[in-house]
Amino acid sequence: MRIIKVKDYEEMSRKTANIISAQVILKPDCVLGLATGSTPIGTYKQLIEWYQKNDIDFCEVTTFNLDEYVGLSFDSNQSYHYYMNKMFFSQINVDMKNAHIPDGMNTNAAEECRRYDEKIRSCGGIDLQLLGIGLDGHIGFNEPGTSFELGTHCATLTESTIRANERFFEKAENVPKYAYTMGMKSIMQAKKILLIANGENKAQILREAFLGQITPQVPASILQLHSDVTLIVDEASGKFL
Ligand code: PGA
Repeated sequence: MRIIKVKDYEEMSRKTANIISAQVILKPDCVLGLATGSTPIGTYKQLIEWYQKNDIDFCEVTTFNLDEYVGLSFDSNQSYHYYMNKMFFSQINVDMKNAHIPDGMNTNAAEECRRYDEKIRSCGGIDLQLLGIGLDGHIGFNEPGTSFELGTHCATLTESTIRANERFFEKAENVPKYAYTMGMKSIMQAKKILLIANGENKAQILREAFLGQITPQVPASILQLHSDVTLIVDEASGKFL
């Protein structure tokens, strides 16, 4: 595992964008795994800036997002469809036919999850997967205690995640209780993984995930077994690494 420690959020975002950019230059029709949350926003901003300067071209790129809430329509402004369109897709030249996010409006969970895994497989798997990490060690919506063996599945959100996401909704009871998420098995199949984190509040979970025991209680800990993982962490979050 490579650990790249940087000064602050800006440097984390620039370095992450650099690695994604190198991937797209080396393989213009690559498959990127993308994440939502507050951590990757600066990375997407930087990639948009380089796209506007003609330094990066997404026209052949395929993307797969990690997750989506169940029951939120694409245009609901808390859905991850909305986030991705606003923060990234609408400002670059990705072909929207090739930008995939689980369909939270499909009420047939088994069918939706099977369809998503099949789509990833038919595109040849993910070349580079971008990840954030939750305060409880979750990746996507793989909450503590989730089996490492799962592909895309319907997850029940924990209280801690509902509380953490409450800030995006008017009331806690509006936070959806379920989400479709790629499983740790799907994530471990990505050829390369890039996990990013910033801020003091992530320091302890990064220590547990990457220096502690590999256990489903800390979903990110399984990444210790992946052969090509890079962590980009700022000084505050990386202080124990
Ligand atoms: P954050 O979320 O980037 O908003 O901290 C990370 C996560 O929950 O996966």
